[in-house]
Amino acid sequence: MNPTETAPTTDLEHSPVGELVHSHATGAQWLSRYNSSLLGVFGTPQRVLVRGSGCLVWDADGKEYLDLLGGIAVNALGHAHPFVTSVISSQLATLGHVSNFFTSPTQIALAEKLLEITRAPAGSKVFFANSGTEAVEAAFKLARRNAGPEAQPRTRIIALEGAFHGRTMGALALTAKEAYRAPFAPLPGGVEHLPFGDIDALRAAVDNTVAAVFLEPIQGEAGVRPLPDGYLRAAREATSAAGALLILDEVQTGIGRTGKWLASEDAGIMPDAVTLAKGLGGGFPIGALVTYGPDTSALLTAGQHGTTFGGNPVATAAALATLHVLENQQVLGHVREVGEHLRAGLAAVDGVTEVRGEGLLIGFDLDADVAPAVVTAGLGAGFIVNSPGPRTIRLAPPLILTTEQADRFLAALPALLQTAKDAQ
Ligand SMILES: Cc1ncc(COP(=O)(O)O)c(C=O)c1O
Repeated sequence: MNPTETAPTTDLEHSPVGELVHSHATGAQWLSRYNSSLLGVFGTPQRVLVRGSGCLVWDADGKEYLDLLGGIAVNALGHAHPFVTSVISSQLATLGHVSNFFTSPTQIALAEKLLEITRAPAGSKVFFANSGTEAVEAAFKLARRNAGPEAQPRTRIIALEGAFHGRTMGALALTAKEAYRAPFAPLPGGVEHLPFGDIDALRAAVDNTVAAVFLEPIQGEAGVRPLPDGYLRAAREATSAAGALLILDEVQTGIGRTGKWLASEDAGIMPDAVTLAKGLGGGFPIGALVTYGPDTSALLTAGQHGTTFGGNPVATAAALATLHVLENQQVLGHVREVGEHLRAGLAAVDGVTEVRGEGLLIGFDLDADVAPAVVTAGLGAGFIVNSPGPRTIRLAPPLILTTEQADRFLAALPALLQTAKDAQ
């Protein structure tokens, strides 16, 4: 075919992708090809997934799973949501990509919608990226632009022990875990990690040499660890007094995950910037930085930052569709209810020592170091969960998880714990 000709219409079934989805290769065969062709940064994946619907996914061997991880807090509306799917397809069939020499209605409408749901004041602005780490990277550059006067420059940036902000170099400098950082030294300088949740340490550290403080309202990767009450307010007071930016990383906690648009909503403070990603696109890659008010928004000017794909029409249409469903089907109230039900159920399970989190971002601790074995037992029994620590399990399921699905997991959990302990 002449490449300038329009390709004949083809359905997925008869395309090269359809052939892959319907391939008879086993999971083991796929994984062997995976290990020969993909860089080993993720190790060997647990399963080869071929299909999803709502909160369920199926692997290449035909086994069904209840997905209680949701692509790590990404699949807000589950898999293959019909409305999101049709909006993405229609947008792609209309206009797929334009570059940032141009804009598109979906990009503008999504920016306006994000300013509304994040309660950003007049003069606030949005920058679109493609992932969480890129949203944080933009925030890092924003922080550097809060440079202070030449006589007293703001060279320091504060983050917390246990923090996870991403894997690109700026975001990695903010991430605390030594195993992630050490192989890539030297990282961008000036970042200090303070003890988690220690308000006095924060007050002592923040002065006019600090450009920004980065905080996750709930540390997801550290095992779903919420900041103590009063911490965000104290951080706002200390940063305001010192002229430092308060930047909240809501990549994991934002967009309804905790039953609110932002996990920080109830703290009654206004940050200087918020990063978003994960659930925003309902499974389609997109990240965003919201800068609050005209002064902070003026810190990054024309030419100082950019990305080819950021704010792409398909990604922004996917996010608009996701936000539309979350809003119009009262999903946030549902998240609060099912989350509360799930946490209460978990707290009653023998062997569970602590339950943390809000909405459908839940971490629970076990009475033994068997969390990775629980993940394996879960896969065997048809449940996808995650272990961010040796005795911690994290759940971040689609926000449409039903009470019945939550109950199915609660009923299975005692046996999963037993299987995990027996395997030790
Ligand atoms: C709080 C937070 N920030 C940033 C990131 C990085 O996002 P991404 O993996 O999309 O780059 C994550 C990912 O887990 C996160 O939880």
